[in-house]
Parts: sequence; structure tokens; C-alpha cells
Amino acid sequence: MTELERKQERAPVPSAWTYAPAPEARDIVTLREQYGHFVGGEWLEPKETYTTISPATEEPLAEVGQATPEEVAAAVDAARAAYDNGWSEIAPSERAKYLFRIARILQERSREFAVLESLNGGKPIKESRDVDLPLSAAHFFYYAGWADKLEYAFPNQRPRPLGVAGQIIPWNFPLLMLAWKIAPALAAGNTVVLKPAETTPLSALLFCDVLRQAELPPGVVNIVTGDGRTGAEIVKSDGVDKVAFTGSTDVGKAIQRELAGSGKKLTLELGGKAANIIFDDAALDQAVEGIINGIYFNQGHVCCAGSRLLVQESIYEPVVDKLKRRLTTLRVGDPLDKNTDVGAINSKQQLEKIQQLVASGAEEGAEIYQPPCRLPEKGYWFAPTVFTNVAQSYRIAQEEIFGPVLSILTFRTPEEAVEKANNTPYGLSAGVWTEKGSRILWMAERLRAGVVWANTYNRFDPSSPFGGYKESGFGREGGRHGLEPYLRLT
Ligand code: NAI
Ligand code: MG
Repeated sequence: MTELERKQERAPVPSAWTYAPAPEARDIVTLREQYGHFVGGEWLEPKETYTTISPATEEPLAEVGQATPEEVAAAVDAARAAYDNGWSEIAPSERAKYLFRIARILQERSREFAVLESLNGGKPIKESRDVDLPLSAAHFFYYAGWADKLEYAFPNQRPRPLGVAGQIIPWNFPLLMLAWKIAPALAAGNTVVLKPAETTPLSALLFCDVLRQAELPPGVVNIVTGDGRTGAEIVKSDGVDKVAFTGSTDVGKAIQRELAGSGKKLTLELGGKAANIIFDDAALDQAVEGIINGIYFNQGHVCCAGSRLLVQESIYEPVVDKLKRRLTTLRVGDPLDKNTDVGAINSKQQLEKIQQLVASGAEEGAEIYQPPCRLPEKGYWFAPTVFTNVAQSYRIAQEEIFGPVLSILTFRTPEEAVEKANNTPYGLSAGVWTEKGSRILWMAERLRAGVVWANTYNRFDPSSPFGGYKESGFGREGGRHGLEPYLRLT
């Protein structure tokens, strides 16, 4: 036995791992005190402002504009002018060059963007670093590749741009949703007015810096900030030819009503209440990882989150045991700490919604489990939560919680799993865990969901179309399909 081996033999086996803090340095991000609206390539001094904060600490980060109707009109005019004065006519291979440049700059500046995204939105740095940023850059790369190949994507259909796209995005993946919206719009030859969500404007504002660095012609992309009132102005603007919205089903319905009969094109990507379905022949430890990733990724602020777990009755107990044990290892806290698994809830408003729905679950008779964990005193936090003993009629089994809360139901047969999975007004995504390839295909055929993941969950790729059925919306983003809403095909 060597000296080292003797030492190791005497060393106590740790009963619990403790982690030293491992914060990502914040100083890579330089914030301005105040941001205006990015219109026609210039910063427009905002008439009204509000303060954007860090949801993890409630500290103010910057003053940003609340765009007025006049400011929205200026942005739409700038987008129209850029469209008419060249952008729609330049060689598609030139458009591609700008998109490639944007993609490369995002890669180069990815640490800066990741830190800012976690600071302003509360998501763990390991997710913004490893998911949001690489995927955002990948979307620009992917659509850059299509820009000069549109006639191959749509043979014999003469693809033409629509004009000005008005785009309204949510707060759960601020930069990634911006990439999902802007990349296909520009590749297709449109110009853009985009509004980030009111709680997470900063990465979109930093992105304006990338646009300048890429020397994108002024007015091709305009960014205005503000809340729903600003969004509503974009929707009803006469200068907008196409509206793309990601957010709540209620606002999506309101937008659809507003646009009915206007001739404007519309795509809606709304909520979900996805079933993650575990069969008794699944690899259970992998399935448990998939359940965790499905609902606790990004604090459950994910439209396609696997928020309803359907477990085959015969494996109910081992799955719930393993899941609860795994829950105790999740680290909740500082979004900028590299070891954090679950960060801050994005806003006070969202925290209140989660608290309300969780209270309703307990009242209606479900059994709640939360692992022991100490939540920071300041900021907005919610412990990872599992509900067992859930009936299909409970609100926690019906409504989108958009938080780290899982409702567990059981089933006996594949037919019953399909029926329960489809028993929702939504239809965005689903997960199936089984060893049998034939069963995966059988299930995928019957699940009314835009995306069905097999033995994995929350996997994204720019080449894969994403979108919903029923109240989850219509239109697809990603892939060749994602170009279609931005084109006129004749
Ligand atoms: P929301 O739908 O109000 O906000 C999303 C975006 O729409 C934001 O940019 C907002 O400023 C804008 N907006 C709000 N009202 C508008 C209007 N009348 N016209 C045009 N734009 C408008 O969503 P909110 O209130 O932040 O979250 C409420 C719930 O919606 C969440 O708890 C969650 O269940 C769901 N949601 C779903 C998302 C998804 O990815 N599908 C994203 C965000 C929220
Ligand atoms: Mg709202």
C-alpha cells in the first residue's frame, strides 16, 4: 500500500457534498445607466422609462424605455424605410453574410451575453452558457445558410419577403427567442421591429451592439422596449405586415382577434401542459434525469416543460422514490454560481402565480413534496416541487404553472396514457420513455403535440421545427418550416 492509498483509506467518506461558491465574474458585462430604443441604427432617447432589476436580488440594473405609440411608429417607419431602400433587394448571399457575422459575434461574446442573461432573468449560468447562447448562435448560423437557397427550400414557388415583421417575445429565453424570431425573418429578406419582454430587456439591448458590430444596415432590425402596451401598438400598427408572438395563450388570443380580417400574417407560440410518459420498460435512472430536466430546467419557465408526469402504475413507487431522492441534490440559488441547478423565478408576478396554483393543488387534495433547501431571503424563489395523488381535474393538472412544479399521474395501458396525455387544451410537446421503438412510433402517431421526444426531453436544434396544436398556437419555428411564415409563396 502506498502512502497515498493509506491516507485515502483513513479519509472519512463524505456523507453529503458541500460546494464552495463558484460565482461567474460579473464584470464582463458593462451596463449603462439608461437605455433608449434602437431605431434606424441609432439610440432614441426614451420618453418614458422604468427600472429593470435582477430577480435574484431585486437590485436595480438599468433604466429602460417604455415605448410610446409615437416611438413604436418611428421604429416601424425605420423598418419600412430599410426594407424599401435595399434590404429586400440585396443579393441573398449578402444577407447571409450579415447573419453569419451576427452568429460569429454572438459566439465571441457568449460569456458576456450569458452573464447578462442570468443577471436579468434569473436563470442558472450553466444553462445560459451551455444552452441559450450556443443555440442562439446556432439559429443565426442555420438561417444564414438558407438565405441564398430559398428557391431550393420552396421550389417553383417564387419565395418573396413580406415586408416588416413585428415580433413580441417572452422572458423565459430572452436572447434565444430573439434569435428564433430575427434569424428567419432576415434570412427571408424582411425587416424587423422586435419587443423583448418587460422583465428581460437587457440581452436584446446588448444585441443592438452586435448589430452595429456586424454593420447591419440601419433600420433592418429595430428594438423597442416596454410592456404589453408597447406590444399592442406593434400588433395594430398599419406598417407591420406580419406578427410573430410567443407568450401567454390569453394575449395570443387577443392578438388573433385584433388581426382577424387585417390580412396580416400571424404565428403564435403559446403555452403548454406537456405529458412526460414513463413506461415500465424504460431505463429508470435515465428517465428520472429526463423528468428532472423536463420540469426543473430554467425553473420550469418553459412552454414545452414536462409538467405532467404520467408513470405506468407498476413502476410508480420506484420512480417517485428515485425522483424525490434526486430532488434533494438540486442546488437552488445564485444564478451566477456555476453549480446552481435552479435559479430565481423571473418576476414577482410569476412567483405569485406559481404560489397560487401550488396552493390550489394542496387544497384540492394533492400531496406536496419539496426537498429541504434554504432559499435566499431577497429575490424571487420557489423550491422544486412534486405533487403526487393528483386527479386529472385538478388545476395543477390542467393549467400551465410555468414554474418548478411537477404533477404526477399514473396510467395502466398505452391507450390510457394517450388519452390522459391528450386531455388538455394545449398540444405543444410530449415525452415518451420506453425501450420499444415500435411503441415510441405508436405513441408519437397518437399524441396531439407538435414535438414528441423519445427517451430524452427539452432537446432543441435549429433544423427541427417547433410549434403547437390547439391552444398552444400555430405556425412553426425552426427548420425549413420556420421560413414559411416570413415568405410570400406564389
Ligand atoms: P404575456 O403573454 O403577457 O407576455 C409575453 C410578451 O407579450 C411580453 O413581451 C409582453 O410584454 C407582451 N404582451 C403582453 N400583453 C400584450 C398585448 N396585449 N399585446 C401585445 N403584446 C403583449 O405573458 P406573461 O404575463 O409574462 O406570463 C403569463 C403566463 O403566460 C405565464 O405564467 C406562462 O404561463 C405563459 N407564458 C408562456 C410563454 C411561452 O413561452 N409560451 C412565455 C411567457 C409566458
Ligand atoms: Mg401578461
